[in-house]
Amino acid sequence: MGIRTDLTRMWLTRSTRPFIFRNEYDERLPFGECENLGLYVHIPFCRSICNFCPYCKVRYESKECDRYIDALIKEIHLIGRQHEGKKEVTSLYFGGGTPALAVDRLGEIISAINEHFVITDGIGIELHPDDVDTETLLKIKDAGVTRISIGIQSFNDKYQSILGRKSVAADKLQSVLKEVSFETVSMDLIFALPNQTFEELKSDIDMAFSIGANHVAIYPFIDFTFTASKVSTMQKHDKRKLLDSITEYCEKKGYTRNSIWTFSSKKDARYSSMTRDNFLGFGCSATTLLKDSFKINTFNVEEYCKRIDINSLPTSLTIRFSKRQRMVYYLFWTLYSTRLDPKSFDKFFGESLNDYFGLEFRLAKILGFVREDNGIYSLTYKGAFYYHYYENFYTLAYIDKMWGIMRKEAFPKEIRL
Ligand SMILES: C[S@@+](CC[C@H](N)C(=O)[O-])C[C@H]1O[C@@H](n2cnc3c(N)ncnc32)[C@H](O)[C@@H]1O
Ligand code: SF4
Repeated sequence: MGIRTDLTRMWLTRSTRPFIFRNEYDERLPFGECENLGLYVHIPFCRSICNFCPYCKVRYESKECDRYIDALIKEIHLIGRQHEGKKEVTSLYFGGGTPALAVDRLGEIISAINEHFVITDGIGIELHPDDVDTETLLKIKDAGVTRISIGIQSFNDKYQSILGRKSVAADKLQSVLKEVSFETVSMDLIFALPNQTFEELKSDIDMAFSIGANHVAIYPFIDFTFTASKVSTMQKHDKRKLLDSITEYCEKKGYTRNSIWTFSSKKDARYSSMTRDNFLGFGCSATTLLKDSFKINTFNVEEYCKRIDINSLPTSLTIRFSKRQRMVYYLFWTLYSTRLDPKSFDKFFGESLNDYFGLEFRLAKILGFVREDNGIYSLTYKGAFYYHYYENFYTLAYIDKMWGIMRKEAFPKEIRL
């Protein structure tokens, strides 16, 4: 699997140079000069830990959580005050972990952000189904949140039990969501679980939209090597059939495909923290991409707080992308939305997409991976499946390796991918 991603990387970046992440970083971050900037805040606490989950998280302890939020607010000020005046940003997303465990401090975090940034396109937060009660949702809404995403996984008890999760009380969710409304209500579902059928997924999708979602994210199950999950993965052929059937079904229903795995019933409903040209991440494991530098914060909560105590940034690793590497990264995340406007690429890089990747796009058209309409590329079903397929390899070859190391070492010296 590594060879496949290595070869693709070498071809696309025209270089044998691996992606090298080093334990080095800048104390000053040039976000003031970056357009289309998004913000992300990571809150790594959970009531209990799910076996299959790769994210940076620890069991919730109220004292530790409070100490962490103090450090987080300090990190926001440490970075925010590097730019004079307020910087315009598109959106702010809270992820985790289970960020609602700090719901009583959400207002404080957002105020700290508002001292340095102006958010133009709303605030999102990930919720566990256990967080969905009227009181919590009202607090979240009061703090300024406009989009929520609920980690359902499945409404089917069989799959919840395979994943080690509790059954979801759909009727309770429905009545709470009726009481407190948000611009986007997204629900996460997982597909490609052992022997899962299209009929079962269809009923999950229907249930999500019928109880108040206007957006669903249907993620393929990924078996990370460092998790304790015993769930087996589905064969490529069966996964493709499922993804195509889901897509066909959602399109027939009139839902918009916003990205490879997300569909919405309302045109402007969206939930995505990854598809910005630049982003600033605060908290453990949060990543930051500014121009050609990509940095990742330490995964260790204790070490994170210690760094902030001495007024130092909690960066663990940094990679300086070459121009082509940055272009490949841009194409990867833009194509995640299933569409690419070459003019945006040209504007962002001051170079022509055609000069750099004309051959690849011509080939992709001939092979039926992309379509070109009025100069805009969009992925076909086949293209979307192969994107999904490569994303799977990328996740296992790159993210799995990196996160596997970061969970054990707070500040590794170097990681080569
Ligand atoms: C941080 S969690 C969501 C919020 C909350 N912590 C929860 O569990 O409900 C983010 C989402 O990642 C997805 N996810 C986690 N582990 C996964 C895996 N191994 N494969 C595919 N998706 C996964 C799940 O759909 C999950 O809802
Ligand atoms: S899936 Fe959600 S609740 Fe479970 S461990 Fe991961 S972040 Fe925590």
